[in-house]
Amino acid sequence: MSHFSTKSIHGGDHLKITPDVITPIHISTTYSYSNNPDELIPGSLTDPNTFVYSRENHPNAAQIEAIVESITGYPCIVYNSGLSAFNGLINYVNPKVLAIGQAYHGCHGIADIWKRNFGLKKISIDDEFTDLGSGDLVHLETPINPYGTYADISKYAEKAHSKGAILSVDATFAPPPLLNPFEFGADIVLHSATKFFGGHSDLLAGLLLVKNNEIKKKLLLDRLVLGTNIGNLESALLVRSLRTFELRVARQSKTAEIIVKFLNENKSKFPNLDKIYHGSLQTDEFIQKQMPNGHTPVFGIEMINEHTAKSFPSKLKLFHHATSLGGAESLIEWRAMSDNHISKKFLRVSIGLEDPKDLLIDLIGGLENNDDEKNSLVEEINKLSI
Ligand SMILES: Cc1ncc(COP(=O)(O)O)c(C=O)c1O
Repeated sequence: MSHFSTKSIHGGDHLKITPDVITPIHISTTYSYSNNPDELIPGSLTDPNTFVYSRENHPNAAQIEAIVESITGYPCIVYNSGLSAFNGLINYVNPKVLAIGQAYHGCHGIADIWKRNFGLKKISIDDEFTDLGSGDLVHLETPINPYGTYADISKYAEKAHSKGAILSVDATFAPPPLLNPFEFGADIVLHSATKFFGGHSDLLAGLLLVKNNEIKKKLLLDRLVLGTNIGNLESALLVRSLRTFELRVARQSKTAEIIVKFLNENKSKFPNLDKIYHGSLQTDEFIQKQMPNGHTPVFGIEMINEHTAKSFPSKLKLFHHATSLGGAESLIEWRAMSDNHISKKFLRVSIGLEDPKDLLIDLIGGLENNDDEKNSLVEEINKLSI
């Protein structure tokens, strides 16, 4: 079994304990001990390979980890949200100094709790790293939320490793097969699986990928006591999602690229549109190597003022005005709602699985006020060979 889509469907088959084609949802929170007194081993409550109590492990979570390990080739630990995964990461590394840049505001929020409680020193990922030492953490997000632009992982890996620090990469916006951060020097990879892994806006989950099973074992022990294992029902939904993972990501990535290209090429026709942010518009040399299988399905637009930005989502019919990303349905968010550090002129767009031409026509309808110009753009879109 060697290819992505096959693994995403069959990577957990060996763990099935019933002949059902689709693994049933095991809702039990507790599992019977063996009737054989010789098998009652003290301390085995913390062995994540035995099913004892579902805060520790359960068949549906184990199946997710097996599938993701099969797809990525790295040991995986699944959590009940992306932020739980970040919490697991920071508790495991236990840094005295954290270098972090533009990153999900919730990760900053956890770092701020550590600052308050344990005196963690937060520095910018673009600082000189004079304060950074062995065992500290550099946390890089690429693609960068909310812009969908890219940072050079190799550059930060070199910088972190030269100080003996660990590099974690939050690759939520570029799930497999778009990006493999380990190839460029990451030590730990994080995904909010709520987004593309889940892909249907109906579950919360997080993943850490690590380099060996020793680290996984430590993270599992921490997860047990932090109470951050994924729920049984969500696990079954996530296994469902993984069955279409490659198809969804490839389609969303391609559609985003088409839309960004069209908007960028016709930007002068949209007087309310000031800037477009997306990795496909970046010209840095590292990008071709780092993103060989397509671009992130998330991009950003900046309007000429706060009012146009705030009112733009209400002009669209196919984009929900909502936070989050990675689902089958396209979303747009006036980002200041979630993160008040972001410009009030900025909107984040997550491309879903709708037809690219329909999405483009919807966006043009909201951006262009002149009917003649709008009609000629729609004609052009309908002629696109995609
Ligand atoms: C880049 C990134 N990392 C982490 C998270 C946190 O994930 P979750 O919402 O699953 O806790 C998010 C959520 O939006 C995110 O966008």
